[in-house]
Amino acid sequence: MDKLIITGGKKIDGEIVISGAKNAALPIMAAGLLASESLILSNVPHLKDVTTMMELLGLLDARLTVDENMEIHIDSASPGPHNQTPKIHAPYELVKTMRASILVLGPLLTRFGKAHVSLPGGCAIGSRPVDLHIKALQRMGANIIVENGYICCDVPGGRLHGADIYFDTVTVTGTENIIMAATLAKGTTTISNAAREPEVTDLIHCLNAMGARISGINTSTLIIEGVEKLSGTKYTVIPDRIEAGTYLIAAAITRGRIRLKKVVPSTLEAVLKALEKTGANITCGDDWIELTMSQRPKAIDIQTAPYPGFPTDMQAQIMVLNTIAEGTSTIVENIFENRFMHVQELARMGANIQLHGNTAICHGVEKLTGAPVMATDLRASAGLVLAGLIAEGKTCIERIYHIDRGYERIEEKLFQLNANINRQA
Ligand code: UD1
Repeated sequence: MDKLIITGGKKIDGEIVISGAKNAALPIMAAGLLASESLILSNVPHLKDVTTMMELLGLLDARLTVDENMEIHIDSASPGPHNQTPKIHAPYELVKTMRASILVLGPLLTRFGKAHVSLPGGCAIGSRPVDLHIKALQRMGANIIVENGYICCDVPGGRLHGADIYFDTVTVTGTENIIMAATLAKGTTTISNAAREPEVTDLIHCLNAMGARISGINTSTLIIEGVEKLSGTKYTVIPDRIEAGTYLIAAAITRGRIRLKKVVPSTLEAVLKALEKTGANITCGDDWIELTMSQRPKAIDIQTAPYPGFPTDMQAQIMVLNTIAEGTSTIVENIFENRFMHVQELARMGANIQLHGNTAICHGVEKLTGAPVMATDLRASAGLVLAGLIAEGKTCIERIYHIDRGYERIEEKLFQLNANINRQA
C-alpha cells in the first residue's frame, strides 16, 4: 500500500491550479441518470471517488466515456420497450467504499420508479444515517423497506409526486437526493432547511441547464416544479473549496506564500476570515487567492456548521494550525460526532490536544516532530499531511488511499509548492 513520506520544515512557496470539486462532481454525475441524452462534464477531478461513481453508473446501465479533453460523457439508458428492466441495483461492495453512492437513490427512483440501493453503513467519522433521505422520498410517494442491508423502493404508479419536505438536520447529500428526485416528480416540491453548500448550488445550476425548474437557489428553501423530462447539457464543475482551503493552511502554517488559481473565493469566506484572524495576509481576485504568512499563527476558536459556517471538512486542517499556533483554542465539531480521529495521530507528533465530547482544546506548542502516522479518513489524512509539512524530521503517512479519494495529485501539487514530499509504493 502506498505511503507518503514528508520531511518537514520547508516553506510553501508557489502557485497551483485548484481542481474541480469532488462533492459537486459526484451528485452532478448521478444527475446523469435523470436524462437519456448526454450529460457532458468538464473540470471533473481525477479521483478515486469519481472512478467509483463511474463504475456505479456503469452498473446502472449508463454509458460513460472520457474524451480527449478529459470531459466525461454520461449517457443513461431509457426505460421503455428496449429496456424493460432497467438496472437499479447499487451493490454493497461499491456503496461501502463510497457513501456518496447514496446519491443514485433519488435519480433512480424518479426516473425508473424503483431502486435497490445498499445502505452505506457506518464510517470512521460517525454513524451517518440516511433516514432523512428515506423519509423525504416516502413523503413523495415511494414505498420503501430496508431489508438485508438494502433500501428497496418502488413508486406505485411509477411517478413520484411533489411534497413539502422539512429536514430536521441540514443534510447535503439528503438535499441533493431530494432535489434530483423532485425534478421529474409530478407537481411541486418544497424543501425547507435545505443545505446551501456551493456544491448543492452547482448541482442546481446543472439540473436547471438540463431543463429542471428549481428556484430559491442559495437559500434554505428550495422550490422544485417537476417536469416531464430532462435533456442533456454541457456543464463545468465548480472548483474545490476544501482542496483550496487545505493548501491555504499549508502556506499559513509553514509561514509561506501561495497563489491559488481557478478558485471561487466567495465559497471560502468562513475559511478566509478564520485565516485572517490567525495573522495571514490574504488578497483575492475573481478567480484567485493569494496568502502570505510572516509570523507564527495565532490560535483560533472554531465551530463547524453548515454552509456558510466553517466547514467540517476543514476541521482537521485548521486543528493542525492550532497545534503550533500561539495560544490555546477550542474547536467544536457540530456536524459529525466522531470526527476527531486525527487527534490521536497528531498527539503522536507532539500536539497537545484534549478532547471533551465534541470539543477539542488545543494548546499551541512550539513545534511538532515527525512520526509514522495512519490516515483514518479523508480530511483527517489531509490534516496529517499538513502536520508533516511543519514537523521536524520525517513523517510517514500510511493508508493514503483515503487521501486519493479526495485530493488530486496531492504530492505533485505540494512538490510544486516547494514541499519535500514523495510517495512510496
Ligand atoms: C456531505 C459531504 C461531506 C461533508 C458533509 C457535511 C458529499 C459527498 N459529502 O456529506 O464531505 O463532510 O456533507 O458538510 O457531499 N444526517 C442524519 N440523517 C440523514 C442524513 C444526515 O442524521 O439522513 C446527519 C449526519 O449524521 C450528520 C449531519 O446530518 O450529522 C450532516 O450530514 P450530511 O450533510 O448528510 O453529510 P453528507 O451529505 O453525508
